[in-house]
Amino acid sequence: MPDSSSVFSQALSRQGTNAEKYELRKTLFGRDDVLPMWVADMDLPTPDFILDALKQRLEHPILGYTVTPDSVYQAIIDWQAQHGYKVEKSQIVFTHNVANGFFMAVSAFTHPSDAVLVQPPVYPPFLSAPPLNVRKVVEAPLVLINNRYQIDFAAFERAIVDHSVKLFLLCNPQNPSGRVWQRDELQRLAEICLRHEVIMVSDEIHSDLVYSGHRHTPLASLSTAIAQATVTLSSPGKTFNLGGLQIGYALIANPELKAAYLKVCNAVSIHELNLFAMHALRAAYSEQGKAWRDRLLKHFSNNIDRLQTFFYEHLPDVKVMRPEASYLVWLDFRQRFSDHARLKEWLIDHAKLGLSDGQTFGGESQVGDGFMRINLAVSEDSLETALQQIKQAL
Ligand SMILES: Cc1ncc(COP(=O)(O)O)c(C=O)c1O
Repeated sequence: MPDSSSVFSQALSRQGTNAEKYELRKTLFGRDDVLPMWVADMDLPTPDFILDALKQRLEHPILGYTVTPDSVYQAIIDWQAQHGYKVEKSQIVFTHNVANGFFMAVSAFTHPSDAVLVQPPVYPPFLSAPPLNVRKVVEAPLVLINNRYQIDFAAFERAIVDHSVKLFLLCNPQNPSGRVWQRDELQRLAEICLRHEVIMVSDEIHSDLVYSGHRHTPLASLSTAIAQATVTLSSPGKTFNLGGLQIGYALIANPELKAAYLKVCNAVSIHELNLFAMHALRAAYSEQGKAWRDRLLKHFSNNIDRLQTFFYEHLPDVKVMRPEASYLVWLDFRQRFSDHARLKEWLIDHAKLGLSDGQTFGGESQVGDGFMRINLAVSEDSLETALQQIKQAL
């Protein structure tokens, strides 16, 4: 384990840990020598204060069934208060993780063949959750203006009306673009949903990683009426690199929605966080957690600067979308490659990089063609390696 000063500078090998990002390279990219910068976890260690909490629990040799202590609920309540979101204990429902949280929402709030609205380009499981639950996906694509995504509110409302949409899956902040939705944008979206009795699910897993100059607004914090029609999903999984622990929770103010959601949780027997998730969450959602998050944001910001400078110098025709939140960067290669297959081939076989394929975010609208998402939650050294590989490919 590196000392704390080198955590962000030197690469730490994940060999021998069955890391998905590395193990699936051959399957996804056809070769296992690509530098993997795809799935959204970090090649950076989970901070010591969380590891210590886990080790401390392991001092006791019995790892049996456990109830969630009040301190875990309180940690969530206090953490959400940072964003001006007042949560009560009775609103908290534990999920297996955040993806599981919205898959269950699709099942809880819609009937088979009902329509679910999404805004591509978007985190691919948003596109697959409805069909996997035998529901219809309706797309209201985001609109790219000057390399920044905007919402076409008229098209959004039209999609709801035309398809009798019942549920809207919002990514707030947005993955893959890192866009932080502003209050007025969320207000307009929510007003449309309220007008047409569409239930809103707001995935806020990236909400802790917001850069200075931007501010996360929890959708449900906007008004009581909006809170009553919203299910918020979150987790410390992204901020503290806990993806392997399976952590997630839903916040549901409306008792009827909560009852419907619990019905699905009960049907698949999901009731509590697992033991390690509980301890990790409580350690993460703390003052130490806030300080760590701030250090992390500084590191990511430096990595993004470095990437931007590199592309500006060496690949000026590729547009780098500076994220307002998250360590994920959306790259627009359309001017350089007219053909998506050639872009993929160049990245994999020449630059030897394994990025997230933009096409998987685009849905039927195909708004991800010509794009790639790069994960910058890596050390300075790893980023330098990636950039050198690109340079050589050029
Ligand atoms: C928007 C969004 N939601 C959910 C997830 C997955 O989170 P979890 O591992 O808690 O299911 C991700 C992971 O990349 C994500 O970007």
